[in-house]
Amino acid sequence: YDVEVGLDPAFTVGTVDPRLYGSFVEHMGRCVYGGIFEPDHPTADEHGFRQDVADLVRELGVTTIRYPGGNFVSGYRWEDGVGPVAERPRRLDLAWRSLEPNTVGTDEFCRWARGVGIDPIMAVNLGTRGVDAAVDLLEYTNFAPGSTSTADRRVANGNKDPHAVGTWCLGNEMDGPWQVGHKTADEYGRLAAETARAMRRADPDLELVACGSSNGAMPTFGTWERTVLEHTYDLVDHISLHAYFEPVGGDVDSFMASSEDMRRMITAIAATADHVGAVRRSGKRLTISFDEWNVWYQHRFSGQAGLDVNENAPLIEDVYDVTDAVVVGDLLMALLDHCDRVAIACQAQLVNVIAPIMTRIGGPAWRQTIFHPFALTARHARGTVLRAAVRTAPLPTQRYGDVPGTRVTAVQDPETGALTLLAANRNRTEPARLTVPLRAFDQHGRRPRLLEHVAIADADPSATNTAEHPDRVVPRPVTGTVLDGEQTLTATLPPSSWHLIRLG
Ligand code: AHR
Repeated sequence: YDVEVGLDPAFTVGTVDPRLYGSFVEHMGRCVYGGIFEPDHPTADEHGFRQDVADLVRELGVTTIRYPGGNFVSGYRWEDGVGPVAERPRRLDLAWRSLEPNTVGTDEFCRWARGVGIDPIMAVNLGTRGVDAAVDLLEYTNFAPGSTSTADRRVANGNKDPHAVGTWCLGNEMDGPWQVGHKTADEYGRLAAETARAMRRADPDLELVACGSSNGAMPTFGTWERTVLEHTYDLVDHISLHAYFEPVGGDVDSFMASSEDMRRMITAIAATADHVGAVRRSGKRLTISFDEWNVWYQHRFSGQAGLDVNENAPLIEDVYDVTDAVVVGDLLMALLDHCDRVAIACQAQLVNVIAPIMTRIGGPAWRQTIFHPFALTARHARGTVLRAAVRTAPLPTQRYGDVPGTRVTAVQDPETGALTLLAANRNRTEPARLTVPLRAFDQHGRRPRLLEHVAIADADPSATNTAEHPDRVVPRPVTGTVLDGEQTLTATLPPSSWHLIRLG
């Protein structure tokens, strides 16, 4: 089927905030212990962090990481994770019913993150704790030596320089009955407002994220945000959203169109925030922190809820295939297409736990299929997102009705004029014939040239990467793509495929 794309550099959506390429590290399963941190591993540095994993994190292009949870944070006492390691308590983590050794805490994580060139985002516990603990953690993390006793504890623990965390999440998924310390929207809204007010008095320059809905199917979706923002509108910068996608009942066509749901959620919550702003006659425009998103085969793990209590047991270690990688690439395109409203996004999670990077204890680290669309997008889709008018045959789906068979996102670097096209052919049986007239991109007599066309596509959409075959699925060059004398780009997108086309 044919796909025609209309683009003009003058028609833009907005600028990509680099924090759109965020990730998430939770004390859960083998994300921290046996993931980023494994002191006995041959590549571990003097602090116990695996350097093979750190190298892959750099290659992934992650810009920011939310820490330490997730559901974990709602029962976390941050004080347990600082000071001499031998004196740190072992605690029962109520979220995942596991034993938390507290070997890694705020200082270790922030030092590691800075070492791999990443800006940490910190979440505070508004499940079992409140204003005091949040402000103490802020002082501990960010205040200058000599300013307060709490800041000096950090210095005494060997961290003279503040960790300078600028963005803070006010709790996690407080709308979910599974959350330790779950609250109604009014209860949470009040607590979030009081915490935000106190944190702002400590540091007026922070960016604060209020908890929005845990997923688009929550019965309180929309009303939760309205009530929470009625309490917090003037005090926060972002409202969070979380969403995980999987094929439900074998319905792969709807799964291929998961980003339609993500797009719906973003539009709905932006409208909800704007409604609260309108009622307040506010000139302020809130943005969204989509701080947990990914493919997650939740049905595979439904039995893991009543776990035996143990330490570092593997949890939700999804192995991703080609289809999942196409969906992840398409979800990234949805975030980019809404870059005027989505300021932060964190793929959940970074290592082992529903993650682009997998490790074996004492063994290798490797890239899952979903690593590749993330890494390519994070590297090349920087700058200005353009409005793409796409004419395409529809894909009928059970869940979302008729959706575009192919989605296309265009991002231009305003400095160099380089143009990056991302495309996902969600049709599992039909190739798409892509046509993009690019004459409008001739600038100062200089015509764009085709630099690269690579794709995630495979005759076997269920192919995966494993420790034994880590590069079974990688982006491969696409042949036959042409930019002709009329400056029209043509390419064939095989069924179920994700693409990166670069022009410069
Ligand atoms: O990422 C796994 C879990 O999913 C997080 O702990 C929680 O916030 C979400 O429900």
